[in-house]
Amino acid sequence: MSSANAHFILGIDTSCDETSMAVYDSTSQRTLSNVVSSQIKTHARFGGIVPEVASRAHMENILLVYHAALKEAGIAEKDLCAVAVTSRPGLMGCLLVGCGFAKGLSYQLGIPLIGVNHLEAHLFSPYIGSTPQFPFLGLVVSGGHTAFYKVSDFDQVDLLGQTVDDAAGEAFDKCAKMLGLGYPGGPIVDQLAQQGNEAAFVFKEAKVKMGPQYLSFSGLKTAVQTAIKNCGDDLQNKQNDLCASLQAIISKTLCNKALYFLEEHQLSSLALSGGVAMNSRLRSDIKQFGKSKGVTTFIAEPAYCTDNGAMVAYLASHRQGEDQKMNLTVKPNQKIQARRLKK
Ligand code: KG4
Ligand code: ZN
Repeated sequence: MSSANAHFILGIDTSCDETSMAVYDSTSQRTLSNVVSSQIKTHARFGGIVPEVASRAHMENILLVYHAALKEAGIAEKDLCAVAVTSRPGLMGCLLVGCGFAKGLSYQLGIPLIGVNHLEAHLFSPYIGSTPQFPFLGLVVSGGHTAFYKVSDFDQVDLLGQTVDDAAGEAFDKCAKMLGLGYPGGPIVDQLAQQGNEAAFVFKEAKVKMGPQYLSFSGLKTAVQTAIKNCGDDLQNKQNDLCASLQAIISKTLCNKALYFLEEHQLSSLALSGGVAMNSRLRSDIKQFGKSKGVTTFIAEPAYCTDNGAMVAYLASHRQGEDQKMNLTVKPNQKIQARRLKK
């Protein structure tokens, strides 16, 4: 597969519960492979992610995933031009496995090492295989984050607002747990909601006192808990309706907040990313919203919504020239407190 002009970047993400690697050719702007080894089954019996179990599973999987990513891309190790890895934020032990592996590879092959911020990788994932038009409003909705950013360039990302408590994915997961639906709850709620009546339960959008730039999902959890109690013995029959109503209010909240930021910052395009961007209702609402408001929308492809190496490699393809060498350190807590996300 190697061609004279090709520029193959390996992208690695081990920040949470997926061991993922991808090969991206920055010359043809194509993802040649995107291998994800999910630990969902391992953690499901605990009802959530156990960090120590996750980092051990990464250690077991990482070499297998590496060889699979090269094989699927049809390239040899020596064809790699750079290695990119998520170095922040994430679970400490998990980040260390990916970064340790990336450092070793970079040293052995004598190729640059590029550390990438996981949230930024999600942010740009709707544009994998193309080039973004700046500026745009980026919305990252995942299990750990729900935040809006003004993105003016690949290295100019300003945080505009975020949840003050639970992330949208957390709301899906926690409500699903209360309904006894298993982990992770988002995809199950999505599926059950297809047969439900979203008007059956009335959940309200939370207003946050701190200002219109904030969101909150923790009250929704309490509202769902109350609704479950009120259902009593009829819960089984109401489950689908509850899922549909829950999904509808989360989607409505995100669309309304997107409109607020688009108007406030005079932006005309919106990019949706993160695990919750898999949600079928949210995807169609965002498309519909774009059409009705004259906003151009970009939604990450399903393969690039949940954690993946392709988004890491793609962002690194726009950071060529960087090389952190052995100085790369992991920063588990470097989230989005800073007004501008640091490199
Ligand atoms: O981005 P991601 O893989 O991990 C983080 O960086 O957090 O997102 C995982 C989250 C979980 O909360 C999961 O329930 C949610 O994405 N999710 C969904 C769907 N698929 C995954 N939420 C709603 N509907 C879905 N179809
Ligand atoms: Zn993620």
